[in-house]
Amino acid sequence: MWFAPALGDAPKGSRPLGDRDLHLVTLNRYRYSEQRSCKDLTEVIEQLNGQPPELIRDLSHHISDEPRHAMWLTDLLVELGANVGTPPGSSYIDEFDRLIDREFFNPEHNLEDSIIAGLAAINVTEKRGCEYFSAHIYALKQAPQTEENIKIRQTIEKILPEEAGHVRWGNRWLGQLADKSPEHRQKVDQAKRKYAAIEQAAFEAGMDITLGAELRRVANLLEVANTMPVWQRPQYLMERLPQTLLAPDLQRTRINVVERVWKRDPQTLIERFVPMFLNGLKGMQDNRQKTKA
Ligand SMILES: [Fe+2]
Ligand SMILES: [Fe+2]
Repeated sequence: MWFAPALGDAPKGSRPLGDRDLHLVTLNRYRYSEQRSCKDLTEVIEQLNGQPPELIRDLSHHISDEPRHAMWLTDLLVELGANVGTPPGSSYIDEFDRLIDREFFNPEHNLEDSIIAGLAAINVTEKRGCEYFSAHIYALKQAPQTEENIKIRQTIEKILPEEAGHVRWGNRWLGQLADKSPEHRQKVDQAKRKYAAIEQAAFEAGMDITLGAELRRVANLLEVANTMPVWQRPQYLMERLPQTLLAPDLQRTRINVVERVWKRDPQTLIERFVPMFLNGLKGMQDNRQKTKA
């Protein structure tokens, strides 16, 4: 899959496996990512328009796994009576999409650079998927061995080896391209660094809803820009800075988390979240006043 951090809307310090609701939301985020990756990877094939055929073949093999993962997770969630709608709040995939520099992905004009970029982008998200699934399986082995937990573990255990295969074919392609010449190696390394920074920024955006998250997102955006050639940086930043600062998805996620905590534990909401929001609002007002002055 192109992976989506599952615990993005879990308040810091909560134990996802100890909370059935959050656990099911997590699984639904996996389902959503698996389903979405079919669409995104198909788009890559269309953009490559048949070139090179061996890459189209490997991509199509990869794509054929993803709807099966979505199907297994959907079957599981429906069996458990869980929601299979679009998950609430910040989406890792949308943030990853937004941060990706499509303006420099153009197979028609520069096939090789676009292939390197596409492979590096796919590879880094597949790696994250493997990390998450491994951690989830580990957590489930420590958790009480209820029928439900066992079913969930068995489903993730079916998916993980195929995700590892997705990482492997990407590594093989990137390795072969890097071996072509020192210049190729440099391009591959640079692409790996860039997409690792983009992926990390998208990952953190899904995890971080606390005060100051917008500013940390800007810092991450600068990290991404720093992996690019100097002349590409201004355009990249100018197109993304406004939304990073306003972060409407972040506000939505915060509201969503508050609703959920309110239903479950009003006292925690008052003690932990209200001061955070009030401080956040105060910070915004202070900044506005500073800007006016
Ligand atoms: Fe995958
Ligand atoms: Fe998958």
